[in-house]
Formats: sequence, C-alpha cells, structure tokens
Amino acid sequence: MAINKNKFYISTPIYYPSGNLHIGHVYTTFMCDAIARYKRACGYDVFFLTGTDEHGQKIQDVAKNNNITPIEYVDNMANSITNLWKDFAITNDDFIRTTQPRHEKVVQEVFSYFLQNGDIYLGEYEGWYCKPCESFFTTSQLVDGKCPDCGREVTKEKEEAYFFKMSKYTDKLLDFYKRHENIVMPSSRLKEVVNSFIEPGLEDLCVSRTSFDWGVKVKENPKHVVYVWLDALLNYLSALNYRNNDETKFLKYWNEDCEKVHVLGKEITRFHLIYWPVFLMALNLPLPDKFLVHGWIVMKDGKMSKSKGNVVYPEPLKEMYGIDMLRYYLLREIPFCEDGIFTPEQFVERCNADLANTYGNLVHRSLSMIKKYFNGLIPNYEKAFNDLDYDLEITCKNSINNFFMKMDNFDVTNAISTIFDTITKANKYIEDSKPWALAKDETKQKELASVMSHLANVIYITSTLLTPFLIEGSNKVLDMLNVPENLRNYQALNLPFGQLSNIHISENITPVYARLDMEVEVQRMKEKIYSK
Ligand code: MSP
Repeated sequence: MAINKNKFYISTPIYYPSGNLHIGHVYTTFMCDAIARYKRACGYDVFFLTGTDEHGQKIQDVAKNNNITPIEYVDNMANSITNLWKDFAITNDDFIRTTQPRHEKVVQEVFSYFLQNGDIYLGEYEGWYCKPCESFFTTSQLVDGKCPDCGREVTKEKEEAYFFKMSKYTDKLLDFYKRHENIVMPSSRLKEVVNSFIEPGLEDLCVSRTSFDWGVKVKENPKHVVYVWLDALLNYLSALNYRNNDETKFLKYWNEDCEKVHVLGKEITRFHLIYWPVFLMALNLPLPDKFLVHGWIVMKDGKMSKSKGNVVYPEPLKEMYGIDMLRYYLLREIPFCEDGIFTPEQFVERCNADLANTYGNLVHRSLSMIKKYFNGLIPNYEKAFNDLDYDLEITCKNSINNFFMKMDNFDVTNAISTIFDTITKANKYIEDSKPWALAKDETKQKELASVMSHLANVIYITSTLLTPFLIEGSNKVLDMLNVPENLRNYQALNLPFGQLSNIHISENITPVYARLDMEVEVQRMKEKIYSK
C-alpha cells in the first residue's frame, strides 16, 4: 500500500426523491462509502458527496398527488434520505440538493456562460419524450417504439427550446476516450457508448423545457427551466462551491492532482460518459478520472417495481440485522459489473457462512482459547515456530498486498474475498496446529503461546482490513482484542507481523454476529422488507 497524502473525490449519483430509496440505491451508496472509508484509511484527503436530484416533472406530479407543494415534498424526502444515510453510518462529507440556492446559482451561471460563448443556442425541439426518464429521443433511438432506457410509452412533443452544441465536441470526446481507454470500469460500458452514440456523431442536446416549471429558471428567459440532467450533473461542482465567493474546496478537489471518481448504475452511463465530460470540456475544467459503473440489484422475478410489489427497502433490514449485514451482503455477493439477484435465502446464507461462521467462529474460538490458556493475555510474539506459523504469516502478508491492489483498482468484491480467504486459512490453522493438544503437553507451552499470538495477530490484521465494510463488527472485534489506537490504521499494517503482543483482551467476549435461522428469518423478511 502506498501511503498517500493525495486527494480523492468520490460521488454517488444524486437520487431522485420521487419515492423511497430501496436497496438498489443503497448499494450505490455503500459502494462509495466503502471506497471513501478505504481511501481515508490509506491517508487520502477524501471528499465524498451524495445528494438528491429534486427538479423535474415527475417530482412536480408526485407532490401534486400528495396534495403538497413540490418544495414541501422534496424537503420531507431529503430529510428522510439524510436520516437513512445517518442510520447506516454513511460518511458523506456533504449532501447536495438541487433545490438549494448554492446549486441553483451555479446552474444559472453555467447556463448563461454557455449562452454567451455560443455553446447553447435557441431553437425548436420535436421529439419523442419519455416522462418518467425526462428524456427526449429521436425515432432511431426508440426500441420497438418505446423508451430505450425504461421501455415505457413515449409521446411526440414539440417546443421552443435551448440546445447545447454537443455535435461540436464529438471529435474531442472520441479523442479523450482514445487516450483514456481504462477510464470506465467495466470498459465494455465505454465501448457501448462510443459505438452507439459518440462514433455516429453526437446530436445537439435539448437543455431546456417549457412544459413544466419545477426546475431552475433560465435567467435570460424564465419561461424555460433548465433540463434536469444539465441541472443534476452540475451538482458534482456546485457542492464544491464552484463559481461561488469562496472556491477553496473547488480548487482543492476539482483539479488534476485530485483523483475524481463517479460511481453510477449502468442505466445512466450515457449521461455521465457523454454529457458530463462535454459540459466539463465546455467549461474548460479537468475531466473525471474514473467512472465505476455497476449493475442492478434485481429480484427473482426481475426488476424491482412498485407495481410488482417486490421493492425491497433498507430500513427493515437494518432494524432486523443492524448496519453491517446488508452492506456486507450487497458488496460481497453482487458481482460489481453485473446484475445480482437479491433473495432472502441468499442473504441468510451469505451472512451465516461468512459473518457468523467463518469470521465469527475464528474470533470466538481464538479469544476463548486466549482466555482459557493464558488468562486473557495475548502472548508475546516471538517468531514463526514451524511451517504452519510461517505459512499463516505469508498468507497474511500476501493477503494485505492483494487487498490493497484490488481496492486500488476499485475491485471491492474481490478485495473482500481476499480477506475472507485469510480468515478461512486461519480457521484451518487452528485445526492443523491443535492448540487443545498442545495445552495438554507441558513441553509445548511455547508453541501454544505462538499459536495464540498468531491467531490474535491475524484477527487484528483482517479486522483492520475489514473496517470499511463491517463497520460495527470489525470495530467490536478490535475492541475485544483491546487493540491500541496507534495500531488501528492501515499504515500500521506495514509493520512486521506480530504487533499485537502482551495485551490483555477484554473480559467480555460475545459473538460478533448472530447466526440466523434460515426458516425463521426468511419468513420474517418476507413479511417486513417490502414496506418501509
Ligand atoms: N437522478 C439521477 C442521477 C443524477 S446524477 C447527476 C438518477 N437517480 S436514481 O435515483 O434513479 O438512481 C440513482 C442511482 O441508483 C443510479 O446509479 C442507479 O443505477 C441506482 N439504482 C437505482 N435502482 C437500482 C437497482 N435496482 N440496483 C442498483 N442500483 C440501482 O438516476
């Protein structure tokens, strides 16, 4: 691991507050939070941003259906979303709302700037409009006459509108992606966008609407509101105080020295890989360094949808299982670039297998033996006495290196499984070194002490590595081991094996994660997770 004092910027997409957030949204946020915590632990100066995308016709309609004003509606929703993140111990540094004056001001200024320099012009738009997606499409973009993004009906609409000269940027954007082929993970997502949209030539983008008024008004022509995607994408800058009195944050994080990463779901790649870089080019600003594009969390019967009644909400899962299990399950079980199916059965199986059995057992068995054989004192680390000790030390070292390599490539799922491989190996180490037999032989006390010391140190190392993913459990284990503050960081993992020496573990050894009863919990989940 390189100890780094550099800066790191990471964002979630800003969520539509048109309904309560479900486990798909939570997945995006967990992913960012885990990476943000990892980078902080590596010594980076991190700015982690999330927020809400509050304008647009859909929000206006939902508010109307609820008999409240749009601002009352989004205030309530933003409040409940910030509480959700607090409840899950999300460590975002800011929460941007597109209805905040600090954001609206930036949108208006940028729009005016584009108008003045000719990137935006006034024209007339006719096209196929998808209301839920708030997007216009050309006939050739429709799939079977329906919206290519969500598959719903589209209607023909015509209006006076402002356009952004996307076409002017086709070559520049192609050239940028040629020079940055690895900027998107997985790279197949970039190929799709390049082949289907950029190479054929970008079409100018309609960036204003007159059919509704819940949006940022165009200052020069207030019957127009700014297109939600231009409005929304600018959150990544407005939260940094771009074009505000004090631009310190913007200058600090939006520059070439800061690694800027956007995490997003696959259905919004086009907006992030085309519009966003072009807007940045038009503003003469540096482009992002990475786009991490994840798949969807789906149910056995397909996409989550209110009409199917299969939307899974995070709150009941937190109430029943705490903050770690859902986070762990989603980050570990769902392959990053692909869609993953959520089932209550797999949830129970994964949590039991990894958390209660593999990790929980290692911790419980080891700490109980330290208590039993050494009165709770972790014996002094001396050396590797035999091949088993040596092997375990090497596994640990390799696992640390592998873990950092994977996390530096944002390969979160495999980084976690690297840690669990070591935990599994440590469980096998107990079986192979048979401490219960050593305990019976007075001549084997040194070997017994070595086994305990090795176990305590492996648990210390793996638990420290696990801190971005298992917020409560890993810290509980570090507490039970009484790990001193100066060792509770990633830098300390660069020190030689055996740092945890001569330390009294806590009196209170309790299971880290409860073992879940499959039948009971699946039933409980089926009753509770489909309503907030
Ligand atoms: N408001 C826009 C983003 C603007 S960013 C400038 C938006 N909002 S959203 O609420 O619809 O989606 C936000 C994120 O949640 C997206 O990355 C999306 O992929 C993710 N998810 C929504 N449903 C999901 C699943 N079922 N599974 C995984 N993630 C999904 O798009």
